[in-house]
Amino acid sequence: MSNRPLNVGLVGGGKGAFIVHPHQRAIHFDGTRRVVAGALFPDPRIARAEAAQWPYPLKGYGSYDEMIAANAQLPEAEKLDYILIVTPNFVHFDPAMKAMKAGIAVFCEKPLCLNLKEAAALVKTARQLNIPFCVAHTYVGHWTSRLSRYIVRSGLLGEVRWVDSSYLQGWLATRLEATGQQQASWRVDPKRAGGSGCGGDIGTHALMQLRYVTGLEVTALSAQLETFVQGRQLDDHFTIYCQLSNGGKALVRASQICIGYKNDLGIVVAGTKGTLCWRQEEPESVTIKLPGQPDRVYWRGAVTPGDGFLPKNVPADLMAEPTIPSGHPEAFHDAFARLHRCFEADVRKWKAGKAFKCDGAKYANVEDGWTGIAFIETCVKSSKKKGAWTPMPKAI
Ligand SMILES: NC(=O)c1ccc[n+]([C@@H]2O[C@H](COP(=O)([O-])OP(=O)(O)OC[C@H]3O[C@@H](n4cnc5c(N)ncnc54)[C@H](O)[C@@H]3O)[C@@H](O)[C@H]2O)c1
Repeated sequence: MSNRPLNVGLVGGGKGAFIVHPHQRAIHFDGTRRVVAGALFPDPRIARAEAAQWPYPLKGYGSYDEMIAANAQLPEAEKLDYILIVTPNFVHFDPAMKAMKAGIAVFCEKPLCLNLKEAAALVKTARQLNIPFCVAHTYVGHWTSRLSRYIVRSGLLGEVRWVDSSYLQGWLATRLEATGQQQASWRVDPKRAGGSGCGGDIGTHALMQLRYVTGLEVTALSAQLETFVQGRQLDDHFTIYCQLSNGGKALVRASQICIGYKNDLGIVVAGTKGTLCWRQEEPESVTIKLPGQPDRVYWRGAVTPGDGFLPKNVPADLMAEPTIPSGHPEAFHDAFARLHRCFEADVRKWKAGKAFKCDGAKYANVEDGWTGIAFIETCVKSSKKKGAWTPMPKAI
């Protein structure tokens, strides 16, 4: 494959859509990827009209079926290299499956799909076809998430005893869905969102952050899924006590009724030698607390290996991940861009017939997506039994 920019096709993104926009900006960050096509809306007429209004030239299709079918007829240089799925959860499985079968790599929003049956089928197909697959867990794309992962996994904090991974929001503290607000409406509908509202929407981010940073798995859990806003069908408050694979414990919690909270995703990892604290609303630094010492605050771009805490041999690929200098703040778009950049590298290798990793170290993969769905299903099961301790299914 030449060094032409990768061609990306959008599934979803028309008429007041939210997450497509940070993605499409991040896709264009490096000049090595570009959005060229889109099936932006369920109604074909509106989908094409929306594409015609797009701020830059976009080949508009009436549906993702049409976009995927048309791709086979395009000359090599115009073919889609990957699709980005930014539709509500119930429209993840079908386009992802169809794209893979048509030989197009997939970058899919979280949660991966609606249930474990769909998730298992996606894992099986991605493995059989050996095709790159990313699940858009945005926050693992922060450089400080990468550093946190290195610090915890390298044992610098000792054995992990306790993790508190939480995501607090307040935007669903009232019955916003009753006003017809687009993003709220489908998120509280079990047919379109899945078995858990708050848990599926943001609890999966808190779980992914825990797994990514610590390398530990949840082996069993006791869940309370609660609905504070009357008349709502799904949970808006999600509290999960977890047993971890190393014998430690964790709280994975999420809430959408905490008035004043915006996107407060944060993680505290308490080990036998020290504690790590990170918050996505201040994503440029990570704090390490060690006994008898002032807190160490590590800023992106201003880390010195061999400083008395970090060893000299901090991995070169971690230190080299392209960034702007520290003090010029990175944030949400940069995290997305880092995921697309790392995914691009795998897509290019795959296209060139070379081995690629897709191992979850640089972005969440399809197996991580499966784990998110397994977690949600286990939480729903436990919560229905008043929080009974329930084992997680064995990894796929
Ligand atoms: N990674 C993150 O940080 C993050 C943040 C927000 C949302 N999300 C996820 O992104 C997805 C979309 O969320 P959103 O808030 O942007 O939703 P949204 O309602 O704002 O946008 C969804 C878009 O999908 C379109 N759509 C629906 N069905 C379609 C179909 N059959 N064909 C084509 N287009 C179709 C809608 O018209 C709309 O344009 C969800 O899965 C959500 O969980 C992830």
